[in-house]
Amino acid sequence: MLPEKYPTDSWTNVPPTILAQYGRRLHVQPNHPLSITRKLIESRFPGFRNHNDLPGIVTVHQNFDSLGFTADHPGRSRNDTYYINKDTLLRTHTSAHEVDVFKANTSNGYTISADVYRRDAVDRSHYPIFHQMEGALTWDRSDFKTRQACVDQITTDFEKLPKHDLVVEDPNPSFHAERNPLQEKHHTPEEAEIIGAHLKRSLEDMVVTIFTEADKALAAAGQGSQAEQEPLKVRWVEAFFPHTSPSWELEVWWRGDWLEVLGCGVIDQPLLVRADVPDRIGWAFGIGLERIAMLLFGIPDIRLFWSKDARFLSQFDEGKPIRRFQAFSKHPAAPRDVSFWLPKSNAPVVANTPAAASSAPSPAGGQQTEPSLDGAAPVFHENDLMEIARNTAGDDVEDVKLIDDFVHPKTGRRSLCYRITYRSLEKTLTTEEANALHERISQELVSDFGVQLR
Ligand code: PHE
Repeated sequence: MLPEKYPTDSWTNVPPTILAQYGRRLHVQPNHPLSITRKLIESRFPGFRNHNDLPGIVTVHQNFDSLGFTADHPGRSRNDTYYINKDTLLRTHTSAHEVDVFKANTSNGYTISADVYRRDAVDRSHYPIFHQMEGALTWDRSDFKTRQACVDQITTDFEKLPKHDLVVEDPNPSFHAERNPLQEKHHTPEEAEIIGAHLKRSLEDMVVTIFTEADKALAAAGQGSQAEQEPLKVRWVEAFFPHTSPSWELEVWWRGDWLEVLGCGVIDQPLLVRADVPDRIGWAFGIGLERIAMLLFGIPDIRLFWSKDARFLSQFDEGKPIRRFQAFSKHPAAPRDVSFWLPKSNAPVVANTPAAASSAPSPAGGQQTEPSLDGAAPVFHENDLMEIARNTAGDDVEDVKLIDDFVHPKTGRRSLCYRITYRSLEKTLTTEEANALHERISQELVSDFGVQLR
């Protein structure tokens, strides 16, 4: 529950299901897989100050403006973000605290781990609350006689970082005028170059640690070590974040796929100026903890992290080596389809392009809520169905997927069909229970969005 009473207004869109989970603090719960994952990552950044208690309700300013998000950035949309009211929201990323932590100026390196909130797809790897860890390291140019002396120090620090035998693909230049620019006004090429190198080597080291642990757990479970077949491999991909430049994403080759694990870059200098530490230069990253924990422990469904079931919780022990999660009885799935005609007045439906857990509120994933025509039903966005499904079925909904979409050639009306898969983690849902949930969701689509069921 929210710790205080906040005024609501026309921006308010936080549902009771989210409020009920607010404050669970899974990332610090002893022996919880998210806490074990957090500690494992923290252990690779010795000397960093770890902030694990920053409250999840922040201002729009902290979450977006302080980081240099433009006024029209799609991440601000009510389709993607949970607003408590027009000025206050549930943080969408741990970067919301960057400026405050830089301002407090109590350490050169820090991590921030916390719960973050995003309206998003319903499937086994997305949940509207997840956890991120932010990490940053800066050097203070005013500690050195010359800028070159600061570069020399970063170089020395770089050389002291642990070496690894990871295969690293990094085909792009350290920065690129159009695709991934150097902050020319603020950094010399040498500064950006060495900060980028230090950042990449530090994160590669973290990834080696995580994936070596994951691989050991696999081998111990008799599920075959990946490293025995091919060496661990990562690649750096150019990226964009409003608060870093140049920016990258790190992808890891894991069990036959490139997996995006984090976003990072050279910290935007105007941000550091706003934080009253104009002489500091450095790097930052953000990583999604669920995704890492899922592959470390082999946890197949993101809803499990929220389980209070001893069959889940008793499997994790922070004093012991990582062990693969043993699935307990899986209850059968109950898929149901809902097809409907959209009202004519509905704007084009925007589908989710699920952003990776670590990436910024997806630039492609949403659009501003269209004001509804006078008297007409509010405009339907795919996330509205996700939200109705979660609010009605809670954790008994596993997946919501668009399976058909067509426009009638004569009337021009658009029809959508979604498949909603119900499955409880705790019991078998009866036909009647699944039908009742489905009926309530269908009726809410009618009453809230004026759709016509087919
Ligand atoms: N804040 C970004 C996100 O949520 C991740 C990030 C953090 C990127 C720090 C760069 C530096 O997705």
